Amino acid sequence: MVEFRVQDIPDLDGQIIIVTGGNAGLGYESVKQLSAHNPARIYLAARSKEKADKAIQEIQATNSKLDNIKFLELDLASLESVKAAAADFLRLETRLDILMNNAGIMMTAEGLTAEGHEI
Ligand SMILES: NC(=O)c1ccc[n+]([C@@H]2O[C@H](COP(=O)([O-])OP(=O)(O)OC[C@H]3O[C@@H](n4cnc5c(N)ncnc54)[C@H](OP(=O)(O)O)[C@@H]3O)[C@@H](O)[C@H]2O)c1
Repeated sequence: MVEFRVQDIPDLDGQIIIVTGGNAGLGYESVKQLSAHNPARIYLAARSKEKADKAIQEIQATNSKLDNIKFLELDLASLESVKAAAADFLRLETRLDILMNNAGIMMTAEGLTAEGHEI
């Protein structure tokens, strides 16, 4: 079986990264590991600034050199929020090297977003 471990992550010098749902679970761990491989910036996209700030602080506490993690406000259940996040990102950066579309839900109750899409 092919394995990919954190030690296999290459040097990410100069790269710009977005991880959606970066405040918890697999997204949090991805931000933590990728940020330690020298990217220019890594955007922790989350719908809660409070949760994102807490996650960033926790990750930075493990490695004081990690000043490359930024919060990007993004609620994927709102197309208005998606548009605003894209605009925010385009104001800040001219390139995107890695997009990790991690945020998601499963086994939750049925429901609709404010715009009428299945949650
Ligand atoms: N773990 C598994 O065994 C497994 C298996 C198959 C697939 N997956 C998929 O892998 C991904 C990560 O899984 P996980 O276990 O790490 O999940 P998790 O711990 O529940 O984390 C999900 C992340 O997605 C975010 N999120 C959910 N809805 C969002 C929205 N509308 N806008 C922005 N962010 C939103 C959550 O933010 P909040 O903290 O604000 O809720 C959280 O940061 C998910 O897409 C999941 O469906 C996981």
